[in-house]
Amino acid sequence: MPKVTIDGTPVEVEPGTTILNAARQIGGDLVPPAMCYYSKLQGSGGKCRVCLVEVSKGSDANPTPMPKLVASCCTQVMDGMEVKNLTSPRVIDARNGVVEFLLMNHPLDCPICDQAGECDLQNLGFKHGKEATRYKEDRREFEKIDIGDKIQLHMTRCILCYRCTYVADQLTPGRCHGIINRGDHAEISTYIQNSVDNEFSGNMIDVCPVGALTDKTFRFSSRVWFTKPIDAHRDCDKCCGKVTLYTFGNDVLRVSARKDEYNEVEEFICNTCRFEKKDKAAWIIDGPRKFAKYSVINQNNYTQKLQPVEFDTDDKFLLTGREQDRISLSMVNPK
Ligand code: SF4
Ligand code: SF4
Ligand code: FES
Repeated sequence: MPKVTIDGTPVEVEPGTTILNAARQIGGDLVPPAMCYYSKLQGSGGKCRVCLVEVSKGSDANPTPMPKLVASCCTQVMDGMEVKNLTSPRVIDARNGVVEFLLMNHPLDCPICDQAGECDLQNLGFKHGKEATRYKEDRREFEKIDIGDKIQLHMTRCILCYRCTYVADQLTPGRCHGIINRGDHAEISTYIQNSVDNEFSGNMIDVCPVGALTDKTFRFSSRVWFTKPIDAHRDCDKCCGKVTLYTFGNDVLRVSARKDEYNEVEEFICNTCRFEKKDKAAWIIDGPRKFAKYSVINQNNYTQKLQPVEFDTDDKFLLTGREQDRISLSMVNPK
């Protein structure tokens, strides 16, 4: 089996494994971020370039370094390959640049965006973004579009990762939409408005890494960090029936598929489970959902005494070492 070293950590993987998936097998901070790759969607990846890494040694057979940074989500490992992610200043510089490009046309909507608190772009912006934009031109603007009665498309926030088009392609019958035009004019085709009344269309909401596709049954009901996520299941004849309920008191505000540490769903769910079972009595409760320690959702649970919370002199929460915790927590209890 090929052996690859990523930021100094060796791992053996199956032949054909990509650098990104090899890094995920190691886990932790050295895993490159991914905005367009989605392991459950064939053909995804290679669009956003946030997963760029440096290959400082090609393989044992040919140790020549690769001259350019490569997209880790679509570059396969070779035996003896050495990869740098966080240890490469070139990678960090390139990723900062990619994030700046992604944010070039992006609205400053986080305070009113339903995705805030669980948005991959928000997290990337926090880690790699600049404090001020250098962009002076007009940003692209689009009207919001209802794509079916339960999903809203806010094209202004779309980063053109193509994930939703793969959902339409691979989970629903018939290909009816895609991305039209090129470059600055690219957008999701309005054919999508006619194509989403099928039982698995709601999964577009779960795979969208930003707040471009949102659940109309949840929009503006609550900030996500005020909800209490609970794993639950039901016997469903269309899907696995395993979901996460986002609850507030006894109310179920939102139902989504269960997601892993990379924000990818474990199994896709049908629209009946997602949109029509907003009653706890319809579900068998499995227990509280676990989220990454630095998730803003988790931070609200910290405030609900899962862990002791310290305060600094500004009355903002302080947690061990992670600046992101501090910011997330100060959002929970702004002063
Ligand atoms: S999509 Fe993400 S980065 Fe964009 S406004 Fe919404 S929360 Fe902020
Ligand atoms: S709407 Fe969301 S999932 Fe679809 S291309 Fe845009 S960012 Fe990606
Ligand atoms: S995640 Fe690799 S290019 Fe987007």
